[in-house]
Amino acid sequence: MTPAPAASKTKLPPGPRIPTTLQAAIWALRPLEFMDRCEARYGEILTLRIRRGKPWVLLTNPEHVKLVFTRASELMGAGAGEANPLLEPLLGPRSVMLLDEPEHMGDRKRLLPSFHGGRMKDYGAMMSEIAREKVATWPTGEPFELWPRMQAISMEVVMRSVFDGIDPERGALLRERIAELTNWINRPRRLAMLAAFGSRSITANSGFRQAMGKVESVVLDEVRERRARGVAPEQEDIFSLLERGHAESGQPASEQKMRDELVTMLSDGPTATSLAWVFERLLRYPPKLARLREEVLRDEGDEYLDAVVKETLRLCPAVPLVMRRLVTPMELGGYTLPADTIVAPCIYLMHRRADIYPQPLEFRPERFLGGADAGAYSWIPFGGGVRRCVAASFAQLEIKRVIAVVLRELELRPAQAGSEGAARSSVSFAPGGGARVIATRRTPGPADRQPLAA
Ligand code: HEM
Repeated sequence: MTPAPAASKTKLPPGPRIPTTLQAAIWALRPLEFMDRCEARYGEILTLRIRRGKPWVLLTNPEHVKLVFTRASELMGAGAGEANPLLEPLLGPRSVMLLDEPEHMGDRKRLLPSFHGGRMKDYGAMMSEIAREKVATWPTGEPFELWPRMQAISMEVVMRSVFDGIDPERGALLRERIAELTNWINRPRRLAMLAAFGSRSITANSGFRQAMGKVESVVLDEVRERRARGVAPEQEDIFSLLERGHAESGQPASEQKMRDELVTMLSDGPTATSLAWVFERLLRYPPKLARLREEVLRDEGDEYLDAVVKETLRLCPAVPLVMRRLVTPMELGGYTLPADTIVAPCIYLMHRRADIYPQPLEFRPERFLGGADAGAYSWIPFGGGVRRCVAASFAQLEIKRVIAVVLRELELRPAQAGSEGAARSSVSFAPGGGARVIATRRTPGPADRQPLAA
């Protein structure tokens, strides 16, 4: 790693000198390549100017990232809206992801019980059940894209976690409307416009308002009905825990607040994207696939499965960077960054550092075997500090459960020989071809054991 310059300079770290509009255009069209090139040229701490010329300081040194993730939370504002201008129109301004302190922490505390270790057992059984139901309907003998199938699984999982026992008709309507909204947003031209012109290009659009309004109306109908019924003490879905949390704090949430909190949960895109990447990568390494299948079929631990998940989240992080806005100036890497600078631990670049991950572009789950720990500040697919993804354990459990079901039920092979590059989706980067595969059903053999955990 490059040692920090000795004397603190008030100027920002180096970065491209091309005009902001040009940086914004390159960011819109080729963000990953842009970051690669800038890092090669300017090093591990660099400045981009994408939105209204506001500096984004990208960080790829774990020491710098640690300083950001451990800095007092009241000195770090939310930066997620800056990273992705879609977030505010989609999630709403009162979403936990977009709030500053102390409101952010209040929301986060209300969410944490939903992802407590004790809840994971129930979630695991539900995730496997949903995966089995969905996988049974996948086509065989012809190419299809895994990504939308994974979206359907993660949508169902999150829906049941948020609104357990939702009326099946209303559940189907909500799924359908979220899918419509996602498809509307995910059109490449819209995403490029959005990246270039910011959230106003989206909120001003009647197509977006209509699609978003349809999702909101179902969510609000469900909220109103549940409130009219009252939350029973035994109910433990995310809606009920949130409602109880608000009541205990003496401040029942407005309908708009509930809308933002629930839509934030229901908009889980990264889990499906990560699942699509698992198979996009794994199927191109038959010996690794065979090793994983054997571990899954024997049902004797999940060491290799865990390593495959970690390696996928390393090499193909669904979210390429996280952001914080500096409330006060901060010393970092020998620079004094002024207040209002956006500091951005860059997951994508950090995970590709050859000094941390030798041969970084190779898919090698083995690097996480034998007790090799993923470093808290060098393996950061879920961000870090007080804004680290609240659902990191939930998401990893889901990914593992779905992989296990798929490997038990199907033989998969890639539909095309070469790897699929990354393509921008609404909130993440997904395999460009949607992870196209051809499946055949497996006939269980003598090696198959019934899974110990249902
Ligand atoms: C593989 C799947 C997922 C990935 C890679 C992922 C990644 C992330 C990242 C990078 C952040 C920002 C962290 C930061 O700023 O430091 C985040 C925040 C968050 N994620 Fe996830 N996420 C995933 C799944 C989920 C799921 C399934 C849910 C909910 C059902 C969820 C809910 C949230 C929430 C509420 C926050 C905001 C936390 C806060 O601001 O305190 N995520 N996630």
